[in-house]
Amino acid sequence: MVLRRPDAEDGPAVSALIASCPPLDGNSAYCNLLQCSDFAETCVVAERAGRMVGWISGYRPPSNPERLFVWQVAVSDAARGEGLGSRMLDELVARPAACDARELTTTITETNDASWALFEAFARRHGAALTRSPRFERAAHFAGAHDTEWQACITLRPFDHSN
Ligand SMILES: CC(C)(COP(=O)(O)OP(=O)(O)OC[C@H]1O[C@@H](n2cnc3c(N)ncnc32)[C@H](O)[C@@H]1OP(=O)(O)O)[C@@H](O)C(=O)NCCC(=O)NCCS
Repeated sequence: MVLRRPDAEDGPAVSALIASCPPLDGNSAYCNLLQCSDFAETCVVAERAGRMVGWISGYRPPSNPERLFVWQVAVSDAARGEGLGSRMLDELVARPAACDARELTTTITETNDASWALFEAFARRHGAALTRSPRFERAAHFAGAHDTEWQACITLRPFDHSN
């Protein structure tokens, strides 16, 4: 398994992987291209035998650069349950572009057990608590068309980054 930064040529493979990983929302091809180029330092691609099997998109929010926001995590069916999601998260927080972040945040729908388990396991590994609160709500922010996205927040400590 090779973990690396993406480049723009990865855009179509990223879009295809996301499409194969419900309940993730698909993004425009252009959005994935921007992630793979402008946000490459905070995105991770995992490849096995030349095929993309894992992806994390993230960024440092301009309004709160102390944070590392994890946008999407996708692991193909064939590579699940092998610790790849966890490995990619650990790789991401160790990157120079992320290692000074004070907290990691993401949003998760209430019923996405795999995603909660992934971030709860990350918090346990890093000796941190995970707190949750509603961020984007079904009625107020999605006009009823999408389940509420709960924000998970994990405090990062400097020693985490050398783990
Ligand atoms: C969520 C996802 C990325 C997990 O990837 P993965 O590589 O299988 O995760 P890992 O093997 O690193 O497992 C991490 C932890 O989650 C747990 N876990 C993984 N899948 C699980 C599931 N379906 N139900 C419950 N727990 C699960 C693992 O047991 C592990 O916990 P542990 O360390 O306490 O044993 C993958 O299932 C996926 O791509 N799902 C579809 C897209 C999605 O929902 N993404 C997350 C939202 S952004």
